[in-house]
Amino acid sequence: MAGFDRNFTDELRARLSLVDVISRRVPLVKKGQNYWGCCPFHNEKTPSFSVNEDKGFYHCFGCGEHGDIISFVMKSENVDFRTAITELAAQAGLKLPDYKPKSHEQIAREESYFEIMENAASIYQKRLFDPDGEIALAYIRGRGFNNDMIKKYRIGYAPKNNIIANKFVNIKQDNLLATGLCRRGDYGMYDFFRDKLMFPIFNAHGKIVAFSGRSLDGSEPKYINTSDTELFHKRKTIFGFNFARDAIHRANRSIVVEGQIDAIQMQCNGFPETVAPLGTALTEDHISMLCKANRNITFCFDGDVAGQKAAARACDIVMPFLRDASDVKFAFVSGGKDPDEVLKTGGQPAMQKIINDATPLVDFLWNLANAGFTVSTPNGRTQAEKFIKQKIEKISDATLRGEYEHEYNSRMFNQWHKWTKNKNNLQKIELPEIDAITKNTLIFITNKYPEIAERYVDFLSSLNISLDGNAPELPMNERDAEKYIVSLKLQKWLETLHIQRKELTAQMLSGVDVNEQISEIDKKIHDANEKLEQLISI
Ligand code: UTP
Ligand code: MN
Repeated sequence: MAGFDRNFTDELRARLSLVDVISRRVPLVKKGQNYWGCCPFHNEKTPSFSVNEDKGFYHCFGCGEHGDIISFVMKSENVDFRTAITELAAQAGLKLPDYKPKSHEQIAREESYFEIMENAASIYQKRLFDPDGEIALAYIRGRGFNNDMIKKYRIGYAPKNNIIANKFVNIKQDNLLATGLCRRGDYGMYDFFRDKLMFPIFNAHGKIVAFSGRSLDGSEPKYINTSDTELFHKRKTIFGFNFARDAIHRANRSIVVEGQIDAIQMQCNGFPETVAPLGTALTEDHISMLCKANRNITFCFDGDVAGQKAAARACDIVMPFLRDASDVKFAFVSGGKDPDEVLKTGGQPAMQKIINDATPLVDFLWNLANAGFTVSTPNGRTQAEKFIKQKIEKISDATLRGEYEHEYNSRMFNQWHKWTKNKNNLQKIELPEIDAITKNTLIFITNKYPEIAERYVDFLSSLNISLDGNAPELPMNERDAEKYIVSLKLQKWLETLHIQRKELTAQMLSGVDVNEQISEIDKKIHDANEKLEQLISI
């Protein structure tokens, strides 16, 4: 494989469907786990050419031809490695990386990089148990970390002084700078991490490539991470992966949580297959790493607006990785908690329930579209339909994409179109229109209790209906009459809030930062609902 980065070819394999690529030349039929067809490499009438999508290779039982997606293109089109890669990259929508072989200096630099990181981690670990690490140690114990966990995850403490800059005086400054542990200031080298609780970040092979430091005095930002270096790319590194790798194979799925402490607590409390991205939103590289083991991912996000947004993004980027055997789900932790808090308060069973209740991707995307757009109107439905289309276009497996299209077409027909014809359902979903009964009730109230009508005149006139005329006598006393108007007012207010929220969600889904506005609306909705409940219970 001379000439290309392993990561890149792995990514191609992860992104593209072998079955898709081979099907363009050879008709394939699924039988059991594998796909079968007539071998393109020798003449045959009965299929002995098998394709295993999950493992990513083909094998011909007739002629013994064997290989993966890259060798298939090379052999079937009689092209060289570079041409095959270029062609596949175009299909996967990936840019071909420039290839530069590693120089001896670079290899030497990398070696010293790992060595410096390793030594730094040991220094931090030791400091945690020194007197100046007392607060940090108490903090991490308070977060439920026992000694085994502290040791396994190599938790440490970076003291207030420049411990690394001072200890590593004999190391070439450039190498130290390259690790991101130190920076150069006007008065010489200084440490990047000071007075922080330290979490080493390991690469997939268990080597330390960076650190994440948590502030201990409540100062912001809560976490700082090593900036990207030659050997650490935040977008390509997923926290906890080195520990979770085997478990992801065993459990035949991975769980993705938002925070690193969440990932550690999950790993130590019955979910060893858990990982977390690092201070960034999830990237395609993260998914591609997870997909090497299997394509079953349960995303477990916090139940706040940020979590919803993260889930929407995850849904977007996971699409090209879906295969017919993929099981991708979305779980949410409600009540403003995160997995760490759930485990602390409810233990493993509480978390298990959340994971078990996760929503499959097909439903999650449907819910997202229905929540994001006003699907009771043709315009809203058009927006929702386009939203869904735009997502499923990204599925690279053509057959699967077709199935998704079918699924959503049928949901759109059954749940949107049939539904709009059904007046009963419509009224359940939409807040009350001013129907004849309500109108008569209001006419009765304004006639019988004019002082109430006077008090709510602004609201009543905002309804834009005429309250002249006669209405039948109703068994409604003054108190009930007032309650009736107040509850109608609250319901109308809720209706407005829900419309506003949908508009904001649509904006959010198209990338506008409206988190604060959504939180505000949610609070208003919550308050209005509470008032309504109180009113009903009086
Ligand atoms: P959260 O704000 O959800 O923090 O950020 P948390 O994991 O619950 O933190 P604790 O439990 O208070 O310690 C989720 C993740 O986002 C990154 C971290 O990786 C964190 O785990 N993050 C957060 C940062 O990189 N910088 C920050 O300032 C905050
Ligand atoms: Mn937390």
